[in-house]
Amino acid sequence: MTKILIIGGGAMGSAFSIPCLENKNKVTITEPYSKVFKKNLSSKNKFHSALKIKLSKKLRYKKFSQELLLEKFDLIVIALSLSGIDFIGKELKNLKIKTPILVLTKGLKYEKKINKIFTISELLKKKI
Ligand SMILES: NC(=O)c1ccc[n+]([C@@H]2O[C@H](COP(=O)([O-])OP(=O)(O)OC[C@H]3O[C@@H](n4cnc5c(N)ncnc54)[C@H](O)[C@@H]3O)[C@@H](O)[C@H]2O)c1
Repeated sequence: MTKILIIGGGAMGSAFSIPCLENKNKVTITEPYSKVFKKNLSSKNKFHSALKIKLSKKLRYKKFSQELLLEKFDLIVIALSLSGIDFIGKELKNLKIKTPILVLTKGLKYEKKINKIFTISELLKKKI
């Protein structure tokens, strides 16, 4: 059984938990930003207001913290929107985590000062 941590309880992160659980993995989800998603995921019936479905009771919700990032996981999934990438980069910096990271965030970031376009992975590598 693979231990997976999903960071970001929005539509993508929460939907991604479904196939992960169906494939018998142990899945924890955390939400660092949105009060609505925090409430959805920590509620008893786990009704997700964006997906309009009840998520599995097997999905564990944990409060976002540095301690959580340091727990032993086999895979960390980042499902934040582009505006959350700087935030998670800063949080992961200095933690020296060796766990593989899967990034679901789409898009490219244009850094005007240096006139360069970065992929999300490049942005994260730059931060971490
Ligand atoms: N929805 C899809 O079908 C789909 C498919 C593939 C990829 N994606 C990508 O996944 C990412 C998330 O999309 P979504 O549909 O879940 O969006 P969403 O709005 O439902 O969720 C956004 C997530 O990002 C977090 N977030 C937003 N601003 C933040 C900030 N400033 N700091 C920290 N966290 C912040 C939110 O709290 C939430 O967890 C996007 O990059 C999207 O392109 C979405």
